[in-house]
Amino acid sequence: MKEPSTRVTEAARRACNDEPLCAYIYDLASLDRHAAGLAASLPDNCELFYAVKANSDLPILQTLAPHVHGFEVASGGELAWVRAHFPDAPVIFGGPGKLDTELAAALELGVELLHVESLGELRRLAWLAWRADRQVDVLLRINLPLDDMPVTTLTMGGQATPFGIDVGQLPECLIWLAQHPEVRLHGFHFHLMSHQLDARAHLILLERYFRQVRQWNEQFGLAINHINVGGGIGINYREPDRQFDWPAFSSGLAALVKSESMADWRIRFELGRYMTAACGYYVMQVLDIKQCFGRYFVVGRGGTHHFRTPYAQGHSHPFFVLPQEHWPYPFPRPGVEQTQVTVVGQLCTPKDVLASNASVERVRVGDLLLFPYAGAYAWHISHHDFLRHPHPQHLYLFS
Ligand SMILES: Cc1ncc(COP(=O)(O)O)c(C=O)c1O
Repeated sequence: MKEPSTRVTEAARRACNDEPLCAYIYDLASLDRHAAGLAASLPDNCELFYAVKANSDLPILQTLAPHVHGFEVASGGELAWVRAHFPDAPVIFGGPGKLDTELAAALELGVELLHVESLGELRRLAWLAWRADRQVDVLLRINLPLDDMPVTTLTMGGQATPFGIDVGQLPECLIWLAQHPEVRLHGFHFHLMSHQLDARAHLILLERYFRQVRQWNEQFGLAINHINVGGGIGINYREPDRQFDWPAFSSGLAALVKSESMADWRIRFELGRYMTAACGYYVMQVLDIKQCFGRYFVVGRGGTHHFRTPYAQGHSHPFFVLPQEHWPYPFPRPGVEQTQVTVVGQLCTPKDVLASNASVERVRVGDLLLFPYAGAYAWHISHHDFLRHPHPQHLYLFS
C-alpha cells in the first residue's frame, strides 16, 4: 500500500494537542493532480463530471472545478450548494425521489440536463415545465438486464432496484415524450453498478451501453447523441495494492469509441468515489488497548460516526500507525507488538469497528492511526451526532 506523503503525516502530527486527535485530512494538491490526469486521459468526446454526493466539501469542489466539465447533483440541497458557489458550472441532476420543489429549482437554476427516473417523474417534470412556460432537457435513466455480465458488490441495476426506468417501459415513455415537446430527450443514462475494480469488465459494460443506445436510436427513430455512463469506478479497500487500472481503461475506451463508431456521441462520466477517495485520510489517536477473550482491541478517538465507510462496505479498512512519542503519564505506556488487532471507536455498539484482525508491527496508546482512501463516502455518509461526540477537525492541505 502506498505510504502517505510526509505532507499528510506532518499535518497529522501538527494537529495533535492536549486532546487526543481525530481529524480528516484532505490532500488537495494530490487531488488536483489526480483529477487533471483523469480528465486528460479521456477521449475528446468524453466529458468528466464529478458526482458531488461522494464529498461535497467546498475545498474539494473548488479543487475539482478547473478539471471537470461540471457537477452531478442528486438533491435540491446539493443543487443549491453547487449553484451558490459555482453559478456558471454545468450541472446535471439525477437520483430517485425528486420533489416538485427540486424539479422546479432545477428549471430555475439552469440545470443542463435532468436524469429522469420514472414515467411519473417525467409527467411531473413536464407539468412543471408547462406551468413555467419552459422547455426542459432530459436523459432517461434506464435499468437494463445484464445477462452474463459480472456484477460488483454494489449493484444499482441489472436486477430489481428502485433506480431508473425498467427497459420494458421504454416504449411507453417514448410514446409519451413524442406527445410532449416541452420535454426534449437527448439520450440515455446508465449507472448500473458501483465498486467496479476490473477495467476490462467496465469496458464490456460500456460496450453494452453503446450498442444498446445505437439500437434504440434506430429502432425508435430517435434524434439523440448523448449517453451518460454513470460513475462506479471502485477503490480496492481490501487489497489496496490492486486498484482499478485506469490507464488500461482509458486507452481501452479510446479504442472502443473508435471500434463502436461512437466518436460523434457525447459520452459523459459522473465519477464520485474514484475522484476523491484517495485524497482523504481519517486520523484517530489511540485511547486504549485491551485484550478480551484472546483478541486485542485498539480503541481510537472517533469511530464509525465519523468514518462509516468500512461498516457501510463491510470491509476491514487498511491503516498506517504513526508513532507519537509524547506520553504524559507517570506509568508505563500500554502497547502491543507483532500481533493482530481490531480497531474500534468510542461508540457503545459492537458495530463500531474500523478494522478487524489487522496485523501491526507495534501500536501504543497515544499513537496515531491513519486510514487512507477516506475522501469519498466517508464523513458525508456518517451519522455524525450519535452520542454527541465532537466532530473531527477537517484539515485541507492546499500545497
Ligand atoms: C446516478 C449515480 N451517478 C454517479 C454515482 C457516483 O458513483 P461512484 O461514486 O461509484 O463513482 C452514483 C453513486 O451512487 C449514482 O447513484
